Amino acid sequence: MSLPALFENRLSVPVIAAPMFLASGPSLVTACCKSGVVGTFPALNLRSTEEFESWVIEIKAELQRHTDETGDLPAPFGVNLIAHKTNPRLEADLAICIKHEVPLIITSLGAISDLVDAVHGYGGIVFHDVVNVRHGKKAAATGVDGLIAVAAGAGGHAGDWSPFALVNELRQFFDKTILLSGCLSTGSDVAAAQMMGADLAYMGTRFLGTQECEANENYKQKLLDSSAAGIVYTPAVSGIPANFIRESVEAAGITLADAPKVDLGLELEEARDGKKSDSKPWADIWSAGQGVGSVNDLPTTAELVSRLKAEYHQAHEDQLARVSTLNG
Ligand SMILES: Cc1cc2nc3c(=O)[nH]c(=O)nc-3n(C[C@H](O)[C@H](O)[C@H](O)COP(=O)(O)O)c2cc1C
Repeated sequence: MSLPALFENRLSVPVIAAPMFLASGPSLVTACCKSGVVGTFPALNLRSTEEFESWVIEIKAELQRHTDETGDLPAPFGVNLIAHKTNPRLEADLAICIKHEVPLIITSLGAISDLVDAVHGYGGIVFHDVVNVRHGKKAAATGVDGLIAVAAGAGGHAGDWSPFALVNELRQFFDKTILLSGCLSTGSDVAAAQMMGADLAYMGTRFLGTQECEANENYKQKLLDSSAAGIVYTPAVSGIPANFIRESVEAAGITLADAPKVDLGLELEEARDGKKSDSKPWADIWSAGQGVGSVNDLPTTAELVSRLKAEYHQAHEDQLARVSTLNG
């Protein structure tokens, strides 16, 4: 078990609200942090590095205002950087994170030791997304502080490993923080993630269904109406296997057998700015994980976190009661 010092006495429940393209913004991030959950967002949610910097400034100011008014220290916030060679913004966005000393950096699609050193240089920490042990070993060698085990059924770019297999194998060579990602929806799921060896739960789809999330109303309604059976795992949208709401993929006329070449810079630009086609990945082709069947309401973030907290504690009581019935 290992939790970074940065999180000690800052969390009300061991959860990170995962970064979500075109869905997580300053309202969701600050609501999470004020409720005691780490709030995060992808730098590429903004069109330019200048706009990205303005969000970082806004989030820091709001969290400082909260501390000044209440005396409470909110949970730290984090930024997701896509460390793929096709992301032309990586260097400039990282420079902003260094300038503003963003506490947590989450890297996906590539682990880079220079980036890790730069973040450590100002006292920040780096978690990295992995979908298998090969990626985990490569990332561990760069000195990251945590591995995010993105298991089968997760929203966005997901893996296809069982969470038990992935966490257990990562634990055999990595003794720092391990986060579990994929279909975690309740406080009981958070407790279960820790029970099977993870330190923190990493939740996306459940936070899509909150008031503060920037997903549009049709998307949110579709979350309420969907269940795991309506999710399709396919590389057809971006070239990287990801989970989407099947109906939205079909409505966009995408052939599931296709696997386009990966060009994240282009894909994300088109998604934000709508250059190429009417149906844009992530904006009109909606991602969600298999946990979507547990999203049955659209609470405020504070309500959701308070529910997660109650369920988390109840899960421990229930487990102790089960253990007490065992013989010996
Ligand atoms: C709509 C959506 C957008 C996402 N965008 C990103 C992203 O930009 N960067 C990233 O690292 N992960 C992204 N993810 C993945 C999440 O960070 C996280 O790994 C995943 O949602 C966890 O699984 P869950 O949705 O089953 O809780 C996205 C997920 C969703 C649902």
